[in-house]
Amino acid sequence: MTEQNADQAADWNDQSGERWVANQARLDAMVAVFGQAAIAAAAPATGERVLDVGCGAGASSRALAARVGAGGQVLGVDISEALIGRARALAPQDMPALFQVADASSAEFPEGAFDILFSRFGVMFFDDPTGAFAHMRRALRPGGRVAFVCWRGAAENEWMRLPMGAMQGIVPPAAPPDPEAPGPFSFGERGRVARILAAAGFIDIALAPFDASVPIGEGGTRDAALDDAVKMALEVGPLSRALAGQGDDIRARASAAVRAVFAGLPGERSVTIDGAAWIVTARNPAS
Ligand SMILES: C[S@@+](CC[C@H](N)C(=O)[O-])C[C@H]1O[C@@H](n2cnc3c(N)ncnc32)[C@H](O)[C@@H]1O
Repeated sequence: MTEQNADQAADWNDQSGERWVANQARLDAMVAVFGQAAIAAAAPATGERVLDVGCGAGASSRALAARVGAGGQVLGVDISEALIGRARALAPQDMPALFQVADASSAEFPEGAFDILFSRFGVMFFDDPTGAFAHMRRALRPGGRVAFVCWRGAAENEWMRLPMGAMQGIVPPAAPPDPEAPGPFSFGERGRVARILAAAGFIDIALAPFDASVPIGEGGTRDAALDDAVKMALEVGPLSRALAGQGDDIRARASAAVRAVFAGLPGERSVTIDGAAWIVTARNPAS
């Protein structure tokens, strides 16, 4: 039997992890507004203990630590050594945040130790999401809360749909992905998320749509911003996989096609594109 989450662990300790570390400040700026919405839903209070799942470079852990204060505690866990390395480097010494390299679906968390189970885009990658959430639920105290943000479907997210659409005729169309396979859009379907959380033992499950425009390119001029947006899309966006192993000619055509599509997006010295997420909340039963 294959080890749980082996593919994701390999990817986040290789290409995806490296790309996120290299572009960490940019990616943090892009998804900041989604993280803030999830933190607002979590409503962390002074002194609370928070488990930040798939914390990456730790931006949400730091924001949560600022909210819970010195009497509280945030534990950020992530399967990627490189991203946890970055999270440790970025966290001020006196911040009540600790970081651990671990697979959140099987890590040995102290039972009932956390008030809040939180994640900013870090819970969509489990091979067995119900098993993972049931495991993480045991780390929550009775009555503890869940709040996370995850993407809605790929078709609703322009940052995915537009660049991939621009690829038509340039790279052969990929087989339609399994919408439930671990990956950024695997929690796109609201019924599936609710079923996973209910099967894992949570109650009071709610999903609220949250849409925001995110900056994907910036520069001194609109042209520079467009160049920057295309670079980001090819390096860390959905195209990075579609173009893996392709030669310079295809990459140049892809670049031009994406630039043409992005030219229709708003922004003066920037390029902004729409993202569509769910803010998910739930609760551990009181006993
Ligand atoms: C899209 S990134 C989000 C990172 C971070 N939360 C942020 O918003 O910047 C997803 C993260 O989930 C982590 N991840 C994937 N599977 C995981 C697992 N089974 N346990 C812990 N972390 C995992 C990845 O390593 C990656 O850092």
